[in-house]
Amino acid sequence: MTEAILLVGGKGTRLRPLTVHTPKPMVPAAGVPFLTHQLARARAAGVEHIVLATSYLAEVFEPYFGDGSALGLHLEYVTEREPLGTGGAIRNVASRLHSSPDDPVLIFNGDILTGLDIGALVSTHTTSGADVSLHLTRVEDPRAFGLVPTDPTGRVTAFLEKPQTPEEIVTDQINAGAYVFRRSVIDTIPAGRPVSVERETFPDLLSSGAHLQGMVDSTYWLDLGTPQAFVRGSADLVLGRAPSPAVPGRCGDRLVLPTASVATDAKLTGGTVVGEGATVGEGARIDGSALLPGCVIGAGAVITDSLIGAGATIGARTVVSGAVVGDGATVGADNELREGVRVWCGATLPDASLRFSSDQ
Ligand code: GDD
Ligand code: MG
Repeated sequence: MTEAILLVGGKGTRLRPLTVHTPKPMVPAAGVPFLTHQLARARAAGVEHIVLATSYLAEVFEPYFGDGSALGLHLEYVTEREPLGTGGAIRNVASRLHSSPDDPVLIFNGDILTGLDIGALVSTHTTSGADVSLHLTRVEDPRAFGLVPTDPTGRVTAFLEKPQTPEEIVTDQINAGAYVFRRSVIDTIPAGRPVSVERETFPDLLSSGAHLQGMVDSTYWLDLGTPQAFVRGSADLVLGRAPSPAVPGRCGDRLVLPTASVATDAKLTGGTVVGEGATVGEGARIDGSALLPGCVIGAGAVITDSLIGAGATIGARTVVSGAVVGDGATVGADNELREGVRVWCGATLPDASLRFSSDQ
C-alpha cells in the first residue's frame, strides 16, 4: 500500500503561546496530540509506512510515537538541520521511501483536520495519470491559502500561494494540504536547500507542462493554524463532526479523560475536553473548550471557546471567552479574558486585575 510523508516541522507561529514548548502537531486536540488523529486516519486508509519530516522541536515526536507500532504503523523520523521548507522537507526524506519511481506517495501538511477520503485521492491520481494530485477545498476567504484554479476536467491551471492583490483571487478553491506525488517527481525537487513546494515546486511543474490534478470535495476541512481554529477542531473531534478513529472515548457533548476530576455540578458542553489530571471546580461552566492535562479550573469559572494550557490555573468566577491561556500560567479569581487574548506560558495575573466590562 501507499506510503506517506507528514510535514510537521513548522514553527506554528500563529498558535503561540501554545507552540512555545510544543510543536503544533503535538498540541492535544480531543485528548491526544493532534498528529495522532492524522496518523490514525492514514492508517485506517491502509497506509502503513509514514515518514515524519521534523524540524522545530523535533526531539519530542519520537519519544511519544516511537516506531508507530501502537498505531499499527511503521514510523520513521527525519530531522532537518536547518528548516528546509515544505518542498525541501519532502526531498529530504526521499531516501526513506520504499516506493518505485511510478508509485504514488501521499504527503500531508501536519495541521489539517479533514474527512478527506484518502483512498479516493489516490484513485484520482492513478486514473488521471497525473504527476501530482492535490486535495482542494472551497473556502469563503482564500487569502491565507494557496489558490488552485482548475479547468473543467480538474486539471490544475495555476498555483497562487497567499495572493497579495485582488486580481490574484481568481478562485475560492484552495490547496487543502494533502497531495499524491509520483515518486519520481519527489526526486526532481532540488536537495540540500530550502524549497517551498507551494511557491516553487508547483509553479515550476506547471510551467514545465507537468500534469497536476485537483480533487475538490466538500467534506469537513480545517487548518488548525490559529488558536480559534485549533479550539474549534478539538471540539468538532469531540462532537464527532470531524472524523477520527483516535478520539480516546465516545464522541458527544464532552470528553473527560479518565484521570480528570470534574465537580458534579460543573457543566461541560459543546465538545469540551478535560485532559488527564485536570480539575474542574464546583459550578464551573465550560463550553466548546479544550482543557489540557493538569490544568485547574476554579469554582464558578465560565470558559467558552478557549484553550487552557497544561498545568495552568484559572481562578474562581473568572470568565475566559475566545482566549488562550499558555501552559503553567496562573489567572487569578474574578478576571475577564475575552476574544483574542493570549496569556503567555507561566504568566501570572493577580485576582480581579483584568476586566472588559465595568460590572463586578
Ligand atoms: N519539515 C518541515 N520543514 N515542515 C515544515 C516546514 C519546514 O521547514 N515549514 C512548514 N512545514 C510544515 C508545517 O508544520 C505544516 O504542517 C505544513 O508544512 C504547512 O505549513 P503551514 O505553516 O501550516 O502553512 P500554511 O497553513 O500557511 O499554508 C499551507 O497550508 C494551506 C492549507 O492549510 C500551504 O500548503 C497552502 O498552500 C495551503 O492552502
Ligand atoms: Mg497550516
